[in-house]
Amino acid sequence: MVFEQELDLLIRSSYPIIYVPTPEEERAEQLIADVADYGSPPRELHIWDFVNGFAGGVGRGNPFQALEEIEKAREDVPAIFVMRDFHRFLDDVQIARKVRNLARHLSSTRKTMIILAPSFRVPPDLAEEITVLDLNPPTYDEIDAELDAVLERVPVRLSHGGRDALVKACQGLMMSRIRLGLARAVASYGRLDERAIPLMLEEKKQRIRRTEVLEFWPATETVDDIGGLDILKLWLEQRAAAFTAEARDYGLPYPKGILLVGIQGTGKSLSAKATASLWQLPLLRLDVGRLMGGLVGESEAKTREMIRIAEAMAPCVLFIDELDKGFAGLGSSFVGDSGTSARVFATILTWMEEKQSPVFIAATANSVEALPPEVLRKGRFDEIFFIDLPSERERREIFEVHLGKVRPNRLREFDVDQLAFQSEGFNGAEIEQAIFEAMHFAFNERREFTTEDILRAMSAIVPLSKTAQERIVRLQEWAQSGRCRPASSDAAQSGLIGQLFGDAGLPR
Ligand SMILES: Nc1ncnc2c1ncn2[C@@H]1O[C@H](COP(=O)(O)OP(=O)(O)OP(=O)(O)O)[C@@H](O)[C@H]1O
Ligand SMILES: [Mg+2]
Repeated sequence: MVFEQELDLLIRSSYPIIYVPTPEEERAEQLIADVADYGSPPRELHIWDFVNGFAGGVGRGNPFQALEEIEKAREDVPAIFVMRDFHRFLDDVQIARKVRNLARHLSSTRKTMIILAPSFRVPPDLAEEITVLDLNPPTYDEIDAELDAVLERVPVRLSHGGRDALVKACQGLMMSRIRLGLARAVASYGRLDERAIPLMLEEKKQRIRRTEVLEFWPATETVDDIGGLDILKLWLEQRAAAFTAEARDYGLPYPKGILLVGIQGTGKSLSAKATASLWQLPLLRLDVGRLMGGLVGESEAKTREMIRIAEAMAPCVLFIDELDKGFAGLGSSFVGDSGTSARVFATILTWMEEKQSPVFIAATANSVEALPPEVLRKGRFDEIFFIDLPSERERREIFEVHLGKVRPNRLREFDVDQLAFQSEGFNGAEIEQAIFEAMHFAFNERREFTTEDILRAMSAIVPLSKTAQERIVRLQEWAQSGRCRPASSDAAQSGLIGQLFGDAGLPR
């Protein structure tokens, strides 16, 4: 629902106090004014700020008096009171009390108070009285209309496709930023053309950097960098065009996301990242750790902002690495953060279930024990893949991938069959490590490295599958429970999972 409709609905449902956190004061006030006009009869609009008070100066420099003024206003006349920067006064005991009393009063009148502030800050004891309404970045159509306005004033050379690309590049930015960016493009090049696109993309990167919880991640890994995991790769390849307009016309729903669970160093993070390059979508990484902490209410605000930006960047891949670490032990051992993680987590889960926008979540986890069971419920992820230790065939592929990277022309000289055979129990990361070790030996003697060097390096590595055997077996047993799907057909045939699913390797 768009902001205006949502606001209108809240006002009609007598929500007494609405908090709109946004850096775009002007745009928000414009939209609120539109909503005031929707009403029949139109709603009165009164704006207060600390310096000027209401029109006429009432409540100037005196927020308490401003609240009294709202209280005194006629109850049967529909009116909206916009309070600029009022969040700064909410920590005051007197003001907070007054706001609570006022909330009770307002809900039985036709008056509504709107707090407009650049950031979200509500003391916990006011959380019940105040409803938050986010102002999303402008939609495609709003940006398109803004471009029309700009185009009237400056020389333009934009093809139809160029214009579409420019609007998309602007999506996710606030209108004020878009205006600045376009102005900068015009100032630099003397007109508006395709060169504005990278400029706007850069602006967007800057913006995401500032949010701290999201990061643009270079999607350098490709599916060709993944050895083995054929079922997973096939799944990803089959959906490569799922975000196109053509797929929409066909009636395909957007893929929602995958969870990759498995043993360490087996390519979970690698595969999640490769998804973005395979699908040619931007890759955003969510830092769960940074989402937590901070003042009360801050994590929730950051979560909402994160969701808003991700949706504005859509279609995109949202990479949530090590989900289990971020939300470990929710509901049990989580004490001391007054349920913040639980609320943040619930917000994300609800979003995952309800989101209509093409934000594809690629999440990874090492253990499932620590994950709240809701995560694994149907409907959240399209698929939960279990990534086991690589089979012999897969190890051969992994050797080929990594030897191919460092010695593309000498690949044939290595006995990958033997390497694969000898590396039983090694994960992908350990195979890569063995190759680097071998290179070090050989480099020290100023010669090329050989199969023998790699074998020697391998004999010095104690694979994780030995040291963490118990944990791995537990995980494999969980995988056997049927709540996930093997990422590789070899694992499906041979391993513990194979016993369950049989030879097909394709459960369900
Ligand atoms: N299947 C694979 N094919 C090719 N390389 C692999 C594979 N698995 C692991 N590697 C190598 O090991 C590195 C580490 O893998 P990755 O970070 O994806 O593991 P992970 O499963 O996310 O492990 P962790 O649970 O420790 O986060 C990769 O960058 C890659 O070089
Ligand atoms: Mg990882």
